[in-house]
Amino acid sequence: ASDEVYRASTFAPVNIAVIKYWGKRDPKLNLPTNSSLSVTLSQDDLRTHTTASCSPSIPHDSLTLNGSDQDISGARTQACLHELRTQRQQLEDGDSTLPKLAAMKLKLVSENNFPTAAGLASSAAGFAALVRVIADLYAFPLTPTQLSRIARQGSGSACRSLMGGYVAWEKGVEADGSDSVAYEVAPAHHWPDMRALILVASAEKKDVSSTAGMQQTVASSALFEQRVKEVVPKRMRAMEKAIHERDFAAFAALTRKDSNNFHACCLDTDPPIFYMNDTSRCAVRICEAINANHEASAGKEGPVCTYTFDAGPNAVVYYLADNEEEVVGVFKSIVGDKTGWEGKRGQTVKRMNDAG
Ligand code: PMV
Repeated sequence: ASDEVYRASTFAPVNIAVIKYWGKRDPKLNLPTNSSLSVTLSQDDLRTHTTASCSPSIPHDSLTLNGSDQDISGARTQACLHELRTQRQQLEDGDSTLPKLAAMKLKLVSENNFPTAAGLASSAAGFAALVRVIADLYAFPLTPTQLSRIARQGSGSACRSLMGGYVAWEKGVEADGSDSVAYEVAPAHHWPDMRALILVASAEKKDVSSTAGMQQTVASSALFEQRVKEVVPKRMRAMEKAIHERDFAAFAALTRKDSNNFHACCLDTDPPIFYMNDTSRCAVRICEAINANHEASAGKEGPVCTYTFDAGPNAVVYYLADNEEEVVGVFKSIVGDKTGWEGKRGQTVKRMNDAG
């Protein structure tokens, strides 16, 4: 019947990189200059929920996010939709009993359970949910790694949001991107007491988009060459080892060093790009003070927290559940009067601004 509606629904969580993706060797396919590694936040915390429907009565493709219409004409979104439809068409060509979904228009409805304008990386969860929900609707027998190849074309970091826990994105060597995919380094339950505190230093949109910032860095930073050739490959191996061994001291050192190296490369471009601001630097100092204070107490070894910053001023502080009071307690004593948001494996204390 022409009024038949096919529907699927899925959740995808936000991930925060501890070894950063920065630089594209192929901007069209979103192929990176280096591998990267992230921690996926709990789905109970920051996540996108997306429902996809298709039916002969839907007139055109559409996407709403938290109730407002989104532009889906961009090349990245179109690349994902095209690839998913092509694969569905192949299934239908091979089995005439399947309903003809590839030819129908799609209605996508997404909800983020956090303010979209909060300046938090939302494209990763958004594209991961979009790709998975359509793959579910089309009944693809694909693994998360196979889906990650499609999600990568929407937003690079999205390929890491298709798995929970600790996820690496292997840069790959093929020109067609077939081996540029994400894989699980360890599931969340391997190191379940990992926590993330998100400090929203500014809810404004970033001045330089990640695509523009990457392009400028690849084109003009000399430091970046060393980052890609030497720094990241070594750190990827060391980070995988730290995670396998649940070695928080190694994890913490690699995380802060990689964030600082990435921001140093941004500063090394022409003109320089500043993603961190005074509030961000204040968050760095507070982490250092918490660690120094901990190590000064008799018999205690540190560090107990580490920080990382994406292409914006917001800090993500990683710590272990046992040290919750020591880490989050300090940040709350400084910014606790601000409205906050809390979850199971992650929490934000909003607007740690200069006045706060
Ligand atoms: O996925 P994009 O194009 O938004 O780029 C993300 C870049 C960083 O967030 C800065 C680093 C990363 O690996 O997520």
